[in-house]
Amino acid sequence: MYRADLALVGFGNVARRFAGLLAEQRERLARDHGLQCRVVGIATRRHGSVFAREGVALDEALACADSGRLAAAGDACADAFEVIDRLAATESSVRVVVETTTLNIEDGRPAITHVERALAAGCHVVTANKGPAAFAYRRLRGLAAQHDVCFLFEGAVMDGVPVFNLVREAMPLVDVSGFRGVLNSTTNHILTALEDGEEFAPALARMQAQGIAEADPSLDIDGWDAAAKAAALANVLMDADLTPHAVARRGITPADASAARAACARGERLRLVATAERGSDGLVRAEVAPRTIAATDLLAGLRGVQNALILHTDLLGDVAISQLSGSLTMTAYALLSDLVAVRRTLD
Ligand SMILES: NC(=O)c1ccc[n+]([C@@H]2O[C@H](COP(=O)([O-])OP(=O)(O)OC[C@H]3O[C@@H](n4cnc5c(N)ncnc54)[C@H](OP(=O)(O)O)[C@@H]3O)[C@@H](O)[C@H]2O)c1
Repeated sequence: MYRADLALVGFGNVARRFAGLLAEQRERLARDHGLQCRVVGIATRRHGSVFAREGVALDEALACADSGRLAAAGDACADAFEVIDRLAATESSVRVVVETTTLNIEDGRPAITHVERALAAGCHVVTANKGPAAFAYRRLRGLAAQHDVCFLFEGAVMDGVPVFNLVREAMPLVDVSGFRGVLNSTTNHILTALEDGEEFAPALARMQAQGIAEADPSLDIDGWDAAAKAAALANVLMDADLTPHAVARRGITPADASAARAACARGERLRLVATAERGSDGLVRAEVAPRTIAATDLLAGLRGVQNALILHTDLLGDVAISQLSGSLTMTAYALLSDLVAVRRTLD
């Protein structure tokens, strides 16, 4: 049995659901995977940060996080870096930083700096934040290898549906030469609502009300979220060295309503499609843009918040993986599955 000490850097929607899932799955984690977890640190931006060597009282932390009294659950810390440093200073044999701070589309910081600090101190990192893999994958992969720890980010693309784990674990020797996919739920919901005769603004408002749109919905509709996912996929699966700013990007606007309806009337569909391919010069180019596609295309069948990714490979041809529903639990599950992946490296 291994005991893992966890620090939650970011304690918003995803981290709180992760804390709940950890409790719900405690017995199975121990029985099936020989893993006992306890949360020893929590860091937020505006609601305080805390560290407790013997474990943070999660019920108390959940109850008081929003009122800014998080520090009551243990020793108050100045910020996320102090929480990471205190985790790193423990003698626990398995130390994991669970990074779920907000995506910063400018440069991926401070998430990248949190990940760097943790890896360099010998802590494993699991994250649902797209920033680290989208902006700094090569450097962070190198740092993780240097310190013999894991850097995992399954929740960054398609929530808990295993995209990165699928290729890493189940597709040895396979070369991914490109991909195309619908990777953003909010824009796909809006485009299918437009096809059904609805207006842009209420369709977007529904995604905001359901907590599916990013806190700043322009990240979704301007294509930034899909561009960050495309950069992360290209960096990890195709050994590219992109950032979201290197992805040619066009989002959707209310003016796309007529194109969406006209495509539908012709038996086609308008979808926000992310693509990447390796050119003859060896460089990977990625793009996000609204594309008119045939109704028989797998991506055309995606309605509402559904996503799918088609990988172009040498040994397996085209491999498709779909996400037919989405939820916070699925994103939290991604972190849990990464935690089990960390456990598997320990024997
Ligand atoms: N929600 C989803 O369905 C989903 C799905 C896939 C991936 N993701 C990704 O998962 C991450 C978390 O999403 P979420 O919905 O949980 O976001 P959220 O509810 O906004 O929570 C973000 C958390 O990060 C904290 N934070 C921000 N900057 C920080 C800093 N510098 N130091 C310490 N803490 C900081 C915030 O603290 P304060 O509250 O004090 O500001 C908050 O606790 C994001 O990167 C998102 O893109 C989310």
